[in-house]
Amino acid sequence: MDYSTINNSMQKEIEDIKSYIESYLESDIELIEKVSKYIIDAPSKKIRPILVAILGRALNIDKDKSYKLAVIIEFIHTATLLHDDVVDLSGKRRGKDTVNKVWGNEASVLVGDFLYSRSFEIMVELDDMEIMKILSHATNTIAKGEVLQLMCVDQVETNIEDYLRVIQYKTATLFEALCECTAVLAGCDASIRKNLAMYGRNIGLAFQISDDVLDYTAESFEQIGKNIGDDLSGGKITLPFIYAFNNSPENKKEILRNIIQNRKIEDFMILRDIIIETDSIKYTQDKAKEYVALAKNNLKVLENTEAGNLLNFLAEFALKRKK
Ligand code: IPE
Ligand code: IPE
Ligand code: MG
Ligand code: MG
Repeated sequence: MDYSTINNSMQKEIEDIKSYIESYLESDIELIEKVSKYIIDAPSKKIRPILVAILGRALNIDKDKSYKLAVIIEFIHTATLLHDDVVDLSGKRRGKDTVNKVWGNEASVLVGDFLYSRSFEIMVELDDMEIMKILSHATNTIAKGEVLQLMCVDQVETNIEDYLRVIQYKTATLFEALCECTAVLAGCDASIRKNLAMYGRNIGLAFQISDDVLDYTAESFEQIGKNIGDDLSGGKITLPFIYAFNNSPENKKEILRNIIQNRKIEDFMILRDIIIETDSIKYTQDKAKEYVALAKNNLKVLENTEAGNLLNFLAEFALKRKK
């Protein structure tokens, strides 16, 4: 199975969700439509709405409700990207120039706010207090994660626990929330709800760890659609760096401290070599593997079903993805 198999088997739902997205993007302000369509129509994996669609089908959720949930999640995700690219000073996203590069930071932040608040309008349409509770808590947690990450910028002594807390908050939370929301919409019992939420959290963790590996190992901008080395440019301390730092002798530690302090893209190759020398990529990928194994374990509630197989594949994809 590969990612296109998933796309094929979920094609109808993906198309329907696309038209829902389009209708919810309508606005009387021209710049809002232009900017939001620019980022949303750019090629992306759409892993979160696909997850909602798979679970929606498996759990027999009313289509209108599951599509609305998919749009809410994709809008929250896109809003965080619009904000994240400003904070990270990123110039490329989804294979194109970032919104901040084309229209400036102001437009990126404000259209991000539009998508955020639109997602809350759609939540109200779902008229379910439990869903409101999960998603308002999730957006708040994502914001906490981004602030916590900001506090760790340039801090070479950041430890693995701090890192895991950042990625759980900023990335895994949305995966966890979307899975839990599908369980709520389907009226699942507490045990299934917990297992699906934990599946989401665990693949979210693996997904972000892979993203942080790709920032060092991707071969080209074309491969990941983003600039390689953005984490170094932003002084971001991610797991490949933390492990390399902890496993380097004092003289190398000094080099690493300087590289992070200077944040020069010219140092990227030196940093990458140290990360490779210390076997940090393997360590980091093994860590992601642990979360994939946990995620698969959470899927026992859907064993031998079509959805179980697709979700199993998505757990693997979080680990092995090349973009
Ligand atoms: C990017 O998310 C941000 C992370 C959580 C790593 P995706 O990798 O899902 O980005 P798109 O939506 O496919 O562009
Ligand atoms: C993910 O972090 C951003 C959010 C979840 C808000 P990254 O900064 O690693 O994402 P990319 O690499 O820019 O996509
Ligand atoms: Mg970023
Ligand atoms: Mg990244």
